[in-house]
Order: sequence, then C-alpha cells, then structure tokens
Amino acid sequence: LSVESTSALLRTWVARVNSMLERVLPDPESEPKRLHTAMRYAVLNPGKRLRPLLVYASGHALGIATEKLDTAAAAVELIHAYSLIHDDLPAMDDDDLRRGRPTVHIAFDEATAILAGDALQALAFEVLTHAPFAAEQCLAMVRELTLGAGAFGMVGGQALDLAAVGNRIDEQQLIVMHARKTGALIQSCVAMASLAVDAEPKVDASLQRFASALGLAFQIRDDLLDVEASSAELGKTAGKDAAADKPTYVSMLGIEVARQRLAQQAEQMRQALNELAGDTAPLAALAALTVTRLS
Ligand code: IPE
Ligand code: IPE
Ligand code: MG
Ligand code: MG
Ligand code: MG
Repeated sequence: LSVESTSALLRTWVARVNSMLERVLPDPESEPKRLHTAMRYAVLNPGKRLRPLLVYASGHALGIATEKLDTAAAAVELIHAYSLIHDDLPAMDDDDLRRGRPTVHIAFDEATAILAGDALQALAFEVLTHAPFAAEQCLAMVRELTLGAGAFGMVGGQALDLAAVGNRIDEQQLIVMHARKTGALIQSCVAMASLAVDAEPKVDASLQRFASALGLAFQIRDDLLDVEASSAELGKTAGKDAAADKPTYVSMLGIEVARQRLAQQAEQMRQALNELAGDTAPLAALAALTVTRLS
C-alpha cells in the first residue's frame, strides 16, 4: 500500500470505530441523563483512536474482514476512555484538560466522572461479548481485554505510577510500570486480532513483540511530549509529570537518552514487522505515528 492509501485506510477505520462507539453508547436522552452524557462526552471527544487502529491494522495484517473487528476495536477504546477519566481525577493526576476540553470531573462532577468510568468499563465487556466469533474465541478475547485492563495490566500500572511519585525507581522498574499502565492495553489490541484468526504461535509472537515495543515507545513519547510540547498542542496540560514529581523517561534519563530509547523501540518494531508475511503497511504507519506523534 502507498503512504496515501494507508492513511486513507486508517481514516476509514477511525470513522468505523467512531460510528460503532456512537451506536453502543447509551442514549443521552434516557435516564440517568447526566451519566450517559458524561460517558458520551468522554468517548466521543476527539482522541487519536490509536488502540482501535491497532486492532484493525493487526487484523489487516492477518487477513481478517474489517467488520469482524468492530466490537473489539470499540471495546478497547471504551476501556481507554474510562482509564483517561480516572487518570485525570483529583485523587490521581488531577488534570483539568483532556483532548482539548475540560476533563469529565470538571465538565460534570467527580462522582459522575467515577461512575462514567465504571460504566464505560462494564460497557466495553458487554460490547465484546457480541464479537462475531465462536463462543470460545469470544471468551478468549474477553479474557485478553480483562487482563490488559486489570490489576495485571493497566490498573496495576496506574498503581505503580502513583506509588512511584516522589520515590526513586530504576529503569527496569520504569519499563515495568510503562509496560503495564500503557503497554498492556496495547498488547490486548493485537492479541484480540490474533485470537480472532487463531493465528499461529509464531505469528502471534511477532505481533506481541511489535505491540510490546509500541507500548513502551508510546509512553516514552508521552513522557517526552509532556516536557517538549505545549498544552494547546497536546490538548492536555503540559509539564504535569515534573510538577507531580513523577518518575518518567525524561526525569530519570534526560531528553537525549529518552530519545535514544524511543529509537531503540522503533527498531524493535521494524524487526517484529519484518517477521510477518501479511500487509503490514498500516502497522508500520502506526509505529511511525507512535514515534513521531505531536499530540
Ligand atoms: C493517553 O493516551 C494516555 C497514555 C496512555 C499515554 P492517548 O495519547 O492515546 O490519548 P487519546 O486517546 O489520543 O486522547
Ligand atoms: C496514563 O499515563 C496512562 C493511563 C492508563 C491513562 P499518563 O498519566 O502519562 O497519561 P496522560 O499524560 O495523562 O495522558
Ligand atoms: Mg497518569
Ligand atoms: Mg495523566
Ligand atoms: Mg503523560
């Protein structure tokens, strides 16, 4: 695929998942309206939709029909949107700007933000139970997403992140924290696509290596952007990590080394994609986006 047709394909996938999300989110006119409106506000705000794109791009490389992945793509974005609402709460990162708009607890209130997050998480799993596969495959996909979202994945990583504030950790601990808070859900994206086709173990392993590098790269880039970009560019408050005394790639290793580590992950992603036989152009485009993104 050419660069132009790959980016056109990514745009159609964003449109697909957006229409799926629009469909599965509760009607804002039904009660409780405030909860439903907050859920829609959090999800339908302009996000990059990287995780759904990874589901579709992995499926594309494996040769699955796109429409079969709509539920998995929507489910992972619902989990992600919930994680952002809770990440921004006063008890966590205490942020008032997200995706260029006031965070959910600012636009609504704290209790509504907590409940909207809870309800989005439940909705994600409900949506995924409708995945158009055999019951056993569906169950395996649900299990993957649960592991990526929970204490062994994103939530566990968020706990490590909060526990690390003001503490010294080493680079290995930083890698584990990033792998869980950001990497785990990204791993779930490719794992769900891989389960959908019952991919061979070797193919699955290459995809997982790709996702693991992408997850780490994504959070290294996030740590760099926190110091290098403005709030207007990011759509979220810049400089928050240093202000909150968070250990990050930048605070621990400096900008130059953080950039080197990012380049190493980019190389890992390239190597993993070389091992795959299908059309990996969309995955390569997402790898590039992860490394060079400006927001
Ligand atoms: C932000 O994720 C949180 C991290 C894991 C770094 P994204 O940068 O994917 O946020 P959106 O979805 O585009 O808003
Ligand atoms: C968040 O990491 C990871 C999540 C699980 C949401 P950050 O706290 O660095 O994300 P941002 O910078 O607020 O988007
Ligand atoms: Mg955080
Ligand atoms: Mg945060
Ligand atoms: Mg950040």
